[in-house]
Amino acid sequence: MKPVKVGLLGLGTVGGGTVNVLRENGDAIAQRLGAPIQIVHASARDLSKARICDTTGIMLTTDPREVVDNPELDVVVELMGGDGIAREMVLRAIANGKHVVTANKMLLAKHGSEVFAAAREKGVMVAFEAAVAGGIPVIKAIREGLAANRIEWLVGIINGTGNFILTAMRDDDREFADVLAEAQRLGYAEADPTFDVEGIDAAHKLTILASIAFGIPPRLENVYTEGITRITRDDVKYADELGYRIKALGIARRTDKGVELRVHPTLIPEGRLIANVDGVNNAVLVKGNMVGPTMYYGAGAGAGPTASAVVADLIDVARGMNAPGDCRVPCLAFQPEAIAELPVLSMDEVETAFYLRMKAVDKPGVLSKISSALSDFQISIEAVIQKEPKHGERQVDLVILTNVVKEAIMNEAMRRLESSDTIAGPIAHIRVEHLD
Ligand code: NAP
Ligand code: HSE
Repeated sequence: MKPVKVGLLGLGTVGGGTVNVLRENGDAIAQRLGAPIQIVHASARDLSKARICDTTGIMLTTDPREVVDNPELDVVVELMGGDGIAREMVLRAIANGKHVVTANKMLLAKHGSEVFAAAREKGVMVAFEAAVAGGIPVIKAIREGLAANRIEWLVGIINGTGNFILTAMRDDDREFADVLAEAQRLGYAEADPTFDVEGIDAAHKLTILASIAFGIPPRLENVYTEGITRITRDDVKYADELGYRIKALGIARRTDKGVELRVHPTLIPEGRLIANVDGVNNAVLVKGNMVGPTMYYGAGAGAGPTASAVVADLIDVARGMNAPGDCRVPCLAFQPEAIAELPVLSMDEVETAFYLRMKAVDKPGVLSKISSALSDFQISIEAVIQKEPKHGERQVDLVILTNVVKEAIMNEAMRRLESSDTIAGPIAHIRVEHLD
């Protein structure tokens, strides 16, 4: 086989990592593939910037169009991010008949249908393993390894930065902002870290995972999204006391009434494997109707792990390049004509248990009033933590774990409690999943 010629858009964390992987493991990769992979042409905004990789021998430009239009290239690897210039370049590469590898989950969650349709039209491949869960080959696992199954649900820690922050808040009692700054220094965070901490990045990834799991078109707007910015160190400590960990989860589940698609902080019993996935690591639990639950674990962000997924895609694309189109694995696991919408369950209909933290007025009978108000909504209390009032205060921290209840009912119950004279201020609430 002749060398596979690659153009690289972006020389940052993942782009630089990709150059490094190909330099360091190039011989072993060529032995597996039967041909070397060569980065011929690359672009970045500022060519005078120090890089994590050696770009000797690579033609460099500040204009990504030059790369995309280079007739010598077989594959374009898009590692710029965003859905502006990145979308334009990916569509232009496809129009030029080039295969595309990308780590850009935002692009695929928002414009996946357009990108995949364009690729189909031109008979080229679009590979995106690095877009979800960094170095974990979870796309390949669902799309190929679990192809015999009807996927019932998947649950994942799919943002490394968020998990890094929650772990440091719990283990080292560190401040949110300080840990986020470290995640940025380590190259884990998105260019705009709001995407990490507000759950948007995880929603992008869940959109892609749900699409390949259920055969639905990628539609970001269908995912309920809540970040970790309202989680306090007290929440982390109370969860610990109750025997739980707080993790930001992406959850996609088929139900009789529709699919649940949601990203939010979640209490998980501490004995669950996924509750012990810490730091920048990610994990995705996938339940197939034949195989049962399976779990995939590893580094969810960073140069080496993400570049490992990018290069694995390059190898797959190189293998598929000379194969007839119908021998290739479909981008979204299902044949394009089989991709169809499913109804999406509204959050009001979703059923979970709840962790509630409130400031209760410190006077006799308060707990029984709260308990009776909840029981009016058929909500029972499974566990309680009540702290003594701090010196000079007349309010106490009260933490309650409830049974499983419909979200609309819990919202109504919280409104009732907040308007009573037993509670001061709003109630903080976090959903609880037992993952049975
Ligand atoms: P990054 O470090 O910010 O790198 C982005 C690169 O793109 C830089 O080299 C930048 O040039 C170049 N670039 C950006 N806008 C450009 C423009 N308009 N024209 C030309 N070049 C441009 O980002 P990253 O962390 O590598 O992430 C890249 C992609 O991978 C994103 O889609 C991200 O979501 C995804 N991803 C990242 C990780 C991770 O751990 N970081 C993991 C999985 C997926 P300069 O260097 O000159 O500024
Ligand atoms: N910012 C992302 C994260 C990068 O922290 O998970 C990996 O997709």
